Amino acid sequence: MGTYSHTPVTVEDKRAVVVGGTSGIGQAIALGFAAEGADVVATSRDEAKVEETAHAIEQRGVETARVTCDVTDGDSLARVRETVTDELGGVDVVVASQGAISRASVRDISDDEWSFVTDVALDGVRRVTQTFAPALDDGGSVVNISSLSARLAMADLPAYSAAKGGVEAFTRASAKELAPDVRVNAIAPGFVITPQNAETYADGTEKRARIDERTPLGRVARREEIVGAAVYLASDAASFVTGEVVTVDGGFADSAL
Ligand SMILES: NC(=O)c1ccc[n+]([C@@H]2O[C@H](COP(=O)([O-])OP(=O)(O)OC[C@H]3O[C@@H](n4cnc5c(N)ncnc54)[C@H](O)[C@@H]3O)[C@@H](O)[C@H]2O)c1
Repeated sequence: MGTYSHTPVTVEDKRAVVVGGTSGIGQAIALGFAAEGADVVATSRDEAKVEETAHAIEQRGVETARVTCDVTDGDSLARVRETVTDELGGVDVVVASQGAISRASVRDISDDEWSFVTDVALDGVRRVTQTFAPALDDGGSVVNISSLSARLAMADLPAYSAAKGGVEAFTRASAKELAPDVRVNAIAPGFVITPQNAETYADGTEKRARIDERTPLGRVARREEIVGAAVYLASDAASFVTGEVVTVDGGFADSAL
């Protein structure tokens, strides 16, 4: 038998930026990366939440920086890139976890509502990739947060679904173009409890009962359950994985009645 060695699944000593990282799934990823020993900057528009999350990151014994951004504004993302390269000395991993949603149906969604959702959820992902790809060192990794809505029709989510379908197509397109220097992948979470949707998915509601019944693993996800996929895709253990969408949905999407 020859020598054997494999690359462990870890982001230890990497430098990461999580856009939309001060709430929900993005915040869980930022804190998870920090707990693994990565330096992490979590950014969003909300200064108080940036501060709160930076404090929580520091408590895990790693470096961070405080900077806000709005993904609809490319200049603000360029400022994040400058701050991160100055304060962390470079960047290896970028996660795009910002979110925007509209519940307007196909029949009556307005141009403004459609543009609001796609500007944050799709163009925002494109701006994050464009801003950080040139700064990522060789072996860099981009992780975009998609959704089951990219492939499963869900009522009253036309703009969100179109944006997420776009995110997955853009993930594949940019993975091809940015190879071999930078890998680009996406995570498609299923139903994940976050502070924003805790009421909608609360135990005992009809919606929750329907999701639980249709999900092979029998429940919705905790936001921490998305972190492992992000760590894997960001890590050197995923050195041959690019243009891929990792679904984390308890088996929902691929299960029949
Ligand atoms: N929660 C779920 O069930 C679920 C399921 C599938 C996919 N997702 C996706 O996961 C990602 C995170 O969603 P979440 O549920 O954690 O929601 P969330 O609202 O908790 O987090 C979204 C983050 O994006 C930030 N954000 C919004 N607009 C921004 C802008 N213009 N500029 C910068 N930051 C902005 C918010 O401040 C927040 O930090 C989103 O892409 C969402 O579509 C969520």
